[in-house]
Amino acid sequence: MNNLTTLVIATRNSGKTKEIEDLLKDFPVKIKNLKDFGPIPRIEEDGDSFDENAYKKASFASRVLGLPALADDSGLMVEALSGAPGVLSARYGGENATDEDRCGKLLSEMKGESNRKAAFECVISVAVPTGRALTYEGRCEGIIAEKPSGRNGFGYDPLFYYPPLGRTFAEMSMEEKSSVSHRGKALFELKSEFNKVLIWISQNMPGPDKFKVMPGCEKIDVKIL
Ligand code: IMP
Repeated sequence: MNNLTTLVIATRNSGKTKEIEDLLKDFPVKIKNLKDFGPIPRIEEDGDSFDENAYKKASFASRVLGLPALADDSGLMVEALSGAPGVLSARYGGENATDEDRCGKLLSEMKGESNRKAAFECVISVAVPTGRALTYEGRCEGIIAEKPSGRNGFGYDPLFYYPPLGRTFAEMSMEEKSSVSHRGKALFELKSEFNKVLIWISQNMPGPDKFKVMPGCEKIDVKIL
């Protein structure tokens, strides 16, 4: 008997998929990501909040595939910049900018600014095809450093100084960062409740007769590879 629940991680990033697969390895769940299926339209991450974007990605993947799906969205909010780059964190400085360009832009926006408070936020959404969803959140507060330090991590890590450990995220090992980061905290919340999540999924998955394909997705030929 196969009593594993399939959970689709709404990403094409294998690093992200592996991280979640490792985290949930002791639970009766089979992890897949979007690459395991046939062509699926890309969804625009144009929400006004991390919440909205995470829900949009998870619920869309779930409706299109008819399976429970998980998505996350995260970014950096800087107090002196009224919360920027926020939901635009990945696109700050333009679509073709590199992480280094984005850090450079942030440093120049912060030039002469004495309030350097910032926070990373992460929202995880777990959705079923009806559109119902569960949400997990994590936040980590820090300071925008005067110059980049460290070579680990990605994105704004070299500029995000975390006072309790006296280092930037880029100066931490992956384990150290995960123990305090926004994403680490949201994932920890998810893991500690994951037995309940599995029950919630089984109670909320619509039967095949009740499954309604999202308008516009009728023609998508979904193949499980
Ligand atoms: P995503 O939602 O995880 O794809 O993150 C969106 C963007 O936020 C990334 O492209 C990064 O620029 C920034 N970001 C999110 N999490 C982190 C982090 O842990 N370190 C540095 N930058 C991050």
